[in-house]
Amino acid sequence: MAPVTPLSDSVNQQLTDALSAALPQASVDPLLRRSDRADYQANGILAAAKKAKANPRELATQVVSHITTGADLIQDVEVSGPGFLNITLSDRAITENLAARYADGDRLGVAAKADPGITVIDYAQPNVAKEMHVGHLRSAVIGDALRGMLDFTGEQTIGRHHIGDWGTQFGMLIQYLIENPAELSAETDTDGEQAMSNLNRVYKASRAVFDTDEDFKERARKRVVALQSGDKETLDLWQRFVDESKVYFYSVFEKLDMEIRDDEIVGESAYNDGMPETARLLEESGVAVRSEGALVVFFDDIRGKDDQPVPLIVQKADGGFGYAASDLTAIRNRVAGLHATSLIYVVDVRQSLHFKMVFETARRAGWLTDDVTAHNMGYGTVLGADGKPFKTREGETVRLEDLLDEAVQRAAEVVREKAQDLTEAEIQERAQQVGIGAVKYADLSTSPNRDYKFDLDQMVSLNGDTSVYLQYAYARIQSILRKAGEVRPAAHPELDLHAAERALGLHLDAFGGTVFEAAAEYAPHKLAAYLYQLASLFTSFYDKCPVIKPQPPQDVAENRLLLCDMTARTLHQGMSLLGIRTPERL
Ligand code: ARG
Repeated sequence: MAPVTPLSDSVNQQLTDALSAALPQASVDPLLRRSDRADYQANGILAAAKKAKANPRELATQVVSHITTGADLIQDVEVSGPGFLNITLSDRAITENLAARYADGDRLGVAAKADPGITVIDYAQPNVAKEMHVGHLRSAVIGDALRGMLDFTGEQTIGRHHIGDWGTQFGMLIQYLIENPAELSAETDTDGEQAMSNLNRVYKASRAVFDTDEDFKERARKRVVALQSGDKETLDLWQRFVDESKVYFYSVFEKLDMEIRDDEIVGESAYNDGMPETARLLEESGVAVRSEGALVVFFDDIRGKDDQPVPLIVQKADGGFGYAASDLTAIRNRVAGLHATSLIYVVDVRQSLHFKMVFETARRAGWLTDDVTAHNMGYGTVLGADGKPFKTREGETVRLEDLLDEAVQRAAEVVREKAQDLTEAEIQERAQQVGIGAVKYADLSTSPNRDYKFDLDQMVSLNGDTSVYLQYAYARIQSILRKAGEVRPAAHPELDLHAAERALGLHLDAFGGTVFEAAAEYAPHKLAAYLYQLASLFTSFYDKCPVIKPQPPQDVAENRLLLCDMTARTLHQGMSLLGIRTPERL
């Protein structure tokens, strides 16, 4: 069990050495990339020649003379065009690389970071006493995938579900409950949907009174004060709203096949105690100033209509704290308390201005130092198949559970149609994994900052860039491995490889690099694209290179089964980092 050096790294090293032998004074990046003409192409010599005022083709020829070719790694290297290098690897190097990865279990030969940081990732943050919507779905799905990838790189991740559990609306809700105690049973519900429908009822009823009854409005306002000053009865009732909501959140997260830890649900209210100090520090340091009684922060480059500066409000004129104060206090906690080196916020792009101001304020205050990065991974809006913001036919927002249920139902149809030897219970189980996977993948395969269309027909399609296609590729390989019976995967480095085997092998070698890149760039869609390409390369390999029928010689069959199984393991690992299951049979 040991990490495996990616082939591209080894090639890169050889080229770098050859380049510095040819041009001792310069340090040159060979700019290696995968190519259709050979296995890799290096373009870096052009720039190097320009700098050294040398003829690029001559320099390239010189570099080539310093490269050792043979069966170990680089089989062949040739100068092409104005001074590119086309590099072909030996079949042996490819097979040996795969064999070493195969021997490394789940990590597939991918080394973890030597110097991991601590990333606090703020995602899946619904609001208490409110229905979750498709935006919350995106945050949960993207955040979970990002976390999976970061964990795989060796980074230490801490989740923070900054739920909306504080605000003046609780005055209204609690006051209503005091006056209508029967409206929410003293026992917390166990059923998530029931919990939400109870909360919805209380919300609607209290809102109706609030909007029509001035006296109630006044009592609700007083209740806010009681809540803020920590009155016991008020806090107990507030806690009931929070608990009831959590039952609902958990039921949705479970439907999403996502693990959320209770100790990582740290909502807005958790920072209440620190907010006065946040305000005091900002005021004392002059980062925030008093303006019409409120405590605010101004920014040169943030202006609204009429070119008026738009400030961040830390504390309102009435002394109340809001969303910004909570986020600023959370930053202090995450950096000083949790020792975060990176902060990520998976939050709707429409809040990007808020985060821009919050981060800038925290930098001025010295809470975010140069060695801590902060990033709002703002995602776009979920659109319906018609390209408009996602709504029901009646124009209402779609309930998240209904949407997930429908995805599972559609998936059941697809699974049933294809299923050969599955029982009804098995079909239902697969339908969960396929339907939820489809929803997640559709989200993750789009660049997160773009809007995306929620189109169930397309999502559960067997063809095209869908999770179903990937899951079928995985299940198909499992079936091949079962059919192979006694013949087991084994490496035969002496064998010549077919072009389709080489292409698949080289792509498998790139898994670790892809996960690291996608994690560093907060870009799960890059991993999704990699997996889709992996499944496509597998399909063309399997078309061209018989594994079982017609039966190839035993060594060829074993070597090909190794490619099959490595593809399956890589698909499985990659999908699982994205939070998507790969059923063994479909
Ligand atoms: N609860 C908020 C919403 O539904 C999202 C919270 C995002 N996280 C944060 N630290 N502000 O819009």
